[in-house]
Amino acid sequence: MATSTPISAAPLDLVIFGGVGDLSVRKLLPALYMAHLHNTLPDETHIYALGRQTWDRGAFLHFIEEKVRGFIGSKAYRDDVWSSFVRRLSYVCVDATNAADYVGLKSEMQPGADRVYYLATAPSLFVGICANLQSAELIDERARVVLEKPLGHDLASARQINHDVGQYFQEQQIFRIDHYLGKETVQNLMVLRFGNSIFEPLWRSPYIKSVQITVAESVGVGSRAGFYDGTGAMRDMIQNHLLQLLCIVAMEPPVSLDPDAVRDEKLKVLRSLRPMAVADVARDTVRGQYTAGASNGEAALGYLQEENIPPDTNTETFVALKAHINNWRWANVPFFLRTGKRMAARQSEIVIEFADLPFTIFNDSPHRSVNRLMIRLQPEEHIQLQMMAKEPGSGMKLRPVKLDLDLQTAFSERRAEAYERLLIDVIKGRLTHFMRRDELEAAWTWVEPIIDGWQQLGERPKAYTAGSWGPAASSALMAREGSSWVEES
Ligand code: BG6
Repeated sequence: MATSTPISAAPLDLVIFGGVGDLSVRKLLPALYMAHLHNTLPDETHIYALGRQTWDRGAFLHFIEEKVRGFIGSKAYRDDVWSSFVRRLSYVCVDATNAADYVGLKSEMQPGADRVYYLATAPSLFVGICANLQSAELIDERARVVLEKPLGHDLASARQINHDVGQYFQEQQIFRIDHYLGKETVQNLMVLRFGNSIFEPLWRSPYIKSVQITVAESVGVGSRAGFYDGTGAMRDMIQNHLLQLLCIVAMEPPVSLDPDAVRDEKLKVLRSLRPMAVADVARDTVRGQYTAGASNGEAALGYLQEENIPPDTNTETFVALKAHINNWRWANVPFFLRTGKRMAARQSEIVIEFADLPFTIFNDSPHRSVNRLMIRLQPEEHIQLQMMAKEPGSGMKLRPVKLDLDLQTAFSERRAEAYERLLIDVIKGRLTHFMRRDELEAAWTWVEPIIDGWQQLGERPKAYTAGSWGPAASSALMAREGSSWVEES
């Protein structure tokens, strides 16, 4: 079982495989700039961006000026900080599959440093990278490795990756990243549940009627056709981000914040998910694919017309499903999960719908299910509790009002982006917000039969217009349970 990696006072070498790739440019290097700006990187931290281009330093600096700077918010950008940040960076030309290149890498690194390897590459390269690091004697017991998703395509490939990487790194050295676990509001959800006493007695069946988890994106597939078309929304979003959110909503109180205490509880949730047979898949899941429409006021192509997408592909860009957790706390409470690209808005939200009134004495008011806890993750972060109040005036008419916890206004402190927070966790050796091997495998164990079920059913994903909330069947899924998706702006 994992405990956190001990921290030493040695210098730190942070090596990014795929260092000039999309993730590094958009997320990792800007996050490291922010950590540098706020002095949260250890003093002697050096960052090595690895790539196959035969660039000298000048060419690399030109590249990051052009590509990375634009991803740093204008309020955070300062010339002097940027210059000192750039001094922490080196570019090293490494073909990850060529053992000889690791000798060159080693000669550039700080002697005696703690080492963090961030594998922002295709998972097919992971085992080769680990083997080459080992041969170059670049792995010791203080080294850490960060694995970017997707971690596998199915259960067998996820197991294989875990097994292969496990030949070179102990479990407590492996940081499987899911950036949703680094989001402030997601971490806040744990505080809401376990730092307050008022919710816990109600946080169960029959006081909770249903749970909705929506991660809606307004963007389309963009330039990621190659990756996305072989992946789809189920593997890209549900298997990891949405199931992790479900775990945090549904888990039992952990005994502490120790990595294994938290991850043990999440694992129990994943293992309690009711498996779906093909008939369940047909009834309780909806796959969708966007067609031409409008997004953010502009015309948007359909998925099949996007660049490099095969014209007859069956890949889903939307999934809605109803899950059940087979345990005492959640018996008969449906968990509705929904995610998609090119939806009406970028909106991620968890809605806890409390039970209907058993009986109403207010005959003028039609409301039955009236209390909702709404946890908005993005674009803005807030938590609202919907209560009923009396409408002013004569009579006893009820109207929903919201108790509003506006976290942006409540705290003046800076809120770090998910990648920044998680990179600092890696550097400090804190594993709590990373997935353990058995968690990942349990998630695949539940997801895989759904994907297989879709194949057996052989249906095309249902069409939905870009800029909408998904196929009509997704609303029908809710309507059958007497619910509807909460889609408030
Ligand atoms: C990534 C997915 O993990 O998460 C992307 O691969 C998706 O397809 C992204 O767009 C969403 O992240 P966020 O933080 O923008 O909600």
